[in-house]
This record gives sequence, C-alpha cells and structure tokens, in this order.
Amino acid sequence: MSRLAEWYLAHGRHDLPWRASRDPWAVLVSEVMLQQTQVTRILEAWPAFMAEFPDAATMAAATPGAVIAAWGRLGYPRRARRLHDAAVVIARDGWPDDLRALPGVGAYTAGAVANCTRDADEPAIDVNVRRVLERRAGRLLTPREADAAYHRTGRGLEGRDRFLAIMDLGAMVCRAREPRCEECPLRRGCATRGPLAGEVRTRQAPFEGSFRQRRGRVMARLRAADAVPVGELDDEALASLVADGLAVVRRGRASLP
Ligand code: ADE
Repeated sequence: MSRLAEWYLAHGRHDLPWRASRDPWAVLVSEVMLQQTQVTRILEAWPAFMAEFPDAATMAAATPGAVIAAWGRLGYPRRARRLHDAAVVIARDGWPDDLRALPGVGAYTAGAVANCTRDADEPAIDVNVRRVLERRAGRLLTPREADAAYHRTGRGLEGRDRFLAIMDLGAMVCRAREPRCEECPLRRGCATRGPLAGEVRTRQAPFEGSFRQRRGRVMARLRAADAVPVGELDDEALASLVADGLAVVRRGRASLP
C-alpha cells in the first residue's frame, strides 16, 4: 500500500455525510454545494436540502424559485438555478452516461460524481487536487499532464478512494496557505515541499462592497416576500439577477422565478 493510501485510511474525512451515499443525485447536490462553499457550512445545509429535494424528480416538479429559496444563504445562487435545470433534464431523460451533458456540470463535477457513486477512476481535478499534483511535480501542469499525474498518485487506491485521498490531502495537509509538509505522506517524492512559484491562488474576491453583496441583498428580499416593488430594490443588481434566471419582474414587482 502506498503512503498516501495509509494516510487516507487513518486520517481521511470518512465521516462527511455525503460520503455515505452512493446515490448520484445526493452526491451531485453535495458537489455543487462544495464547489464554492466551505465544508462546515455544507454539513448543515446538505441534509436539510436533501430532505426537501430527495431526488431529481421532486426538484423538477418544484419551481426554480423554491430551489433558490431552499439554497438560502449559501451564496452563488446560480448554482441552485443550474441544479434545477439539471433536475429537469434528469427527470425527463434519465441520467446521461457522461454527466457533463447536464447543465452546470463540468469535467470536475462529472468525474467526482462518477468516482464516488460508480467507483469510476476518472481524473477529477479541482483547485485542491491540482495543487497537490503540481506541488508534487514541481511545476504547473497542462490538463493532460494533470490527468496522468492523477493516475500516478495513490498507488493501491482506486476510483472513489484515490479521488477522496487526494482531495483530503489537499484540504488537510497540502493546504493553499501553511501546508503541513512535515505530516505529508507524499513528501519524499515531492519536488517543492511547499507552495510552488506561480501557483494559481483562488481567493474569493472580498464580499463587502461588491456587486455580489448587492445581488445578495436583493435575493434576501425576494426570499423573504412573495413580490417586492421594483422601486424598493437596487435596479442594477435586480437586472443582473433577472438575466441569470434568478428573479422575474411582473407588473412592477419582483419575485423568485
Ligand atoms: N467529498 C467529496 N467531494 C468533496 C468535496 N468537493 N469537498 C470536500 N469533500 C468532498
């Protein structure tokens, strides 16, 4: 067994609740939530959301507005709108073989869901996984190189476990800031042992004073009331929410779609 495999068995985050599921719908919901929101917030949000929308058919039968309302304050509500779009496709056509055919599902999410539910062994490379692979290699990798490096990482692990081991190492040890190299099972073969020069840093832009904050304020009003006179709302923020399918305006009043 490789050192990463041993580390993962002993230290991996095996008790994250979505990891107990092999249901593609439940896992897809968790991955969409986890994309831009911290794990600690999803621990609370995911069970409540799954209770309301236990399967794609239930969500497809609801309005997009009901899904956006249930998304609550998780942020980036376009994710909720796209999830509803995906639910409609799944309810109508069934699950596609390649999940990238679903609205809002890219290579990472498709790979993550396939690995976690079917034990596929597809490279699923988000910023955390990429960081591990690139630091280990000692340089930035092209997409093809990253895919190859992914499959060379975690000997003795396959599919779901390979994916979750690399993901957990990135979250817990090979962290963006303050990596814990002394604890790392991959340190022997690691070319950098620390941040790589030129590493892609994804830091969310400050929320305070941002257009995202202005949109968030309008969303909060729309979640709290059936219809709000447009004159009471930030018109630029509202227009951009309408363009994203997150709000509708009828007879001078705005509401969730
Ligand atoms: N488990 C499965 N996918 C995950 C993710 N994207 N973040 C954290 N834990 C996960």
